[in-house]
Amino acid sequence: MISVTPLTDSTPLLGDGKALRQRWDEDGTLYFRGVIDRDLMAWAEQHYREALAAEELIDLAVEAPVWTGKASDTWRPCDAIGTTVWHEVVKQEALNAILHELFQADAAWLPIVAHRSAFPSGPLKEGEDIFAGQHQDAFYNEGMNSTICWMPVRDIADMSCGTFALAPGTHRRGILHSKDLPNYRIPDGAVGKHEWRSAAYRVGDVVIFRDDTVHAALPNLSNAFRLSIDLRVGSSLAPQPVGGTVESVDGRSVTIREDETGALVTVTVDDDTYIRDMNPHPRIPTDEVGRVAWPGARVLAMAGKDRKATVLRRNRY
Ligand SMILES: [Fe+2]
Repeated sequence: MISVTPLTDSTPLLGDGKALRQRWDEDGTLYFRGVIDRDLMAWAEQHYREALAAEELIDLAVEAPVWTGKASDTWRPCDAIGTTVWHEVVKQEALNAILHELFQADAAWLPIVAHRSAFPSGPLKEGEDIFAGQHQDAFYNEGMNSTICWMPVRDIADMSCGTFALAPGTHRRGILHSKDLPNYRIPDGAVGKHEWRSAAYRVGDVVIFRDDTVHAALPNLSNAFRLSIDLRVGSSLAPQPVGGTVESVDGRSVTIREDETGALVTVTVDDDTYIRDMNPHPRIPTDEVGRVAWPGARVLAMAGKDRKATVLRRNRY
């Protein structure tokens, strides 16, 4: 059995913007219970189940998404849902109201979404580090300054069923990933085992966290998929990334037709730009920018006024 100290429940602070912002500053994460419409999430779960069944990973006749044992090469099979679910979730008024309190501005949703279906991972191995997946999203999306909203799409019966954990307060330590370690991982011991928090999440719950707060998905010792969705959002007052379709690539200049406005925006990449694919996401050398940006490719770039991109990544949406 996996057991982690419970996350602080911030639901009692709803309506008290000052207290919410104070805890947000201290912890870099807030956990709320029962703020997302459960009927909406039940509808979302049905989409997840259909996507998994399409790959014969579950049997729709079984109530729980029990893994059939079939293997899949598809990275995130439930992403086949496309925009259907998340375009509805981002309309949730209670969620937008919380974000408005945190940002003291409207929420600006980013087109970066993950529909996750975590496979059963088998019994724990001797000495296995259950926090081995620890990471900071900020490391992979430099300069994007996004806030992540994570929510279960199905109740997570207990912490052994592939739950989600965070280490509150780690956002105050800067980027912990090491460029000298394989996969740039966070060095062992950088985050103490006692710092981790989690919960037995129920549909309707949401965990909001900063992109530099260390977090990890824990092993799934159950026989069923763990279903969750995570969305990214920022303040409408902050610089926004350019999301759209690549029109042309000329050396180190990438011209993107922006979805929002239809305008052409040219960004430049150099050796400081983190150029990455979707998965895996090791850094792509500057001169190989064509591996993610080609005419017609969907990309997301974060660039300053000088149009120099801090990050350029392929995007699904
Ligand atoms: Fe993450």
